Amino acid sequence: MNQSIGFIGGGNMAEAIIGGIKKTDRELQIRVNERLEKRLQYLVDKYGIRASGVQELAENSAVVILAVKPKDVHEVLKELESYSLKDKLIISIAAGIPLKLFYKNLPGVAVIRAMPNTSTAVLHSMTGLVRGENVTQEQAEAAQQIFAAIGRILWIPEEKMNALIALSGSGPAYYYLFTESLIQAGVQLGLSEEEAELLACETLVGAAKMVTESKKTPGELREQVTSPNGTTFAALGVFKDDDLPRIVMKAAQACARRAEDMEGEYSV
Ligand SMILES: NC(=O)c1ccc[n+]([C@@H]2O[C@H](COP(=O)([O-])OP(=O)(O)OC[C@H]3O[C@@H](n4cnc5c(N)ncnc54)[C@H](OP(=O)(O)O)[C@@H]3O)[C@@H](O)[C@H]2O)c1
Repeated sequence: MNQSIGFIGGGNMAEAIIGGIKKTDRELQIRVNERLEKRLQYLVDKYGIRASGVQELAENSAVVILAVKPKDVHEVLKELESYSLKDKLIISIAAGIPLKLFYKNLPGVAVIRAMPNTSTAVLHSMTGLVRGENVTQEQAEAAQQIFAAIGRILWIPEEKMNALIALSGSGPAYYYLFTESLIQAGVQLGLSEEEAELLACETLVGAAKMVTESKKTPGELREQVTSPNGTTFAALGVFKDDDLPRIVMKAAQACARRAEDMEGEYSV
């Protein structure tokens, strides 16, 4: 990528993205604006990037990534209002901040909403991207390149964003919960905590690889390992009797509803 990137907010997500980009392009110019001095120095030392004021960052970055918490977005937009953002691309990773808030505060701005997940840290983020009205093809490709460096991407219309959050945004935590439960079950069955953790976690990794690499659907893979009246069959019968799909549906709906509420809270 031959365009410079500026990050406003240098927290966990910003660091994960910077780490990913630096792995694929060591020479790329990256600036960061972060209000915690110690944190800023850490990022500068570790990744060889430049500390920068917001004005300098806005003037010198083709792409400005907004990586602050949703509650801090208003303050950053207020500051950005003072600078010319002509030909700049703003990428917002803040959850629950709709495009219309950017149009209201920065009329005519080119903005993309991005929703990565925490697997960014291991370069396996599943990131949803929403293209705003004024974004050029070249800018869309630049955004695609940034997030492809830290995992996979999917372009979606904004009305699907909350559904995406319910799957990939919050999804890692669902798998963590299931794995925690399996570890607890293993301990109940007589394994040590360490044994149960190794078995459950490595099984998660293997199943994830099968799902992504075998070219079979999760349903086909499940059927393949379920012999009639066998051990897996016995376990899956319990999930079926207790209606696991209904529980998952309720959880995803609650997540999407909360994302919708947050949009209401932050977009005023
Ligand atoms: N974590 C995830 O899985 C995930 C997934 C998708 C999207 N996101 C989104 O990513 C964004 C960042 O999340 P995060 O977990 O990286 O948060 P974080 O670790 O709290 O990072 C945000 C950083 O920005 C700093 N900051 C706040 N306002 C600032 C300002 N005006 N100028 C400069 N720096 C400022 C904060 O400093 P203080 O600590 O002093 O406030 C903090 O160090 C959030 O909007 C979140 O919704 C997160």
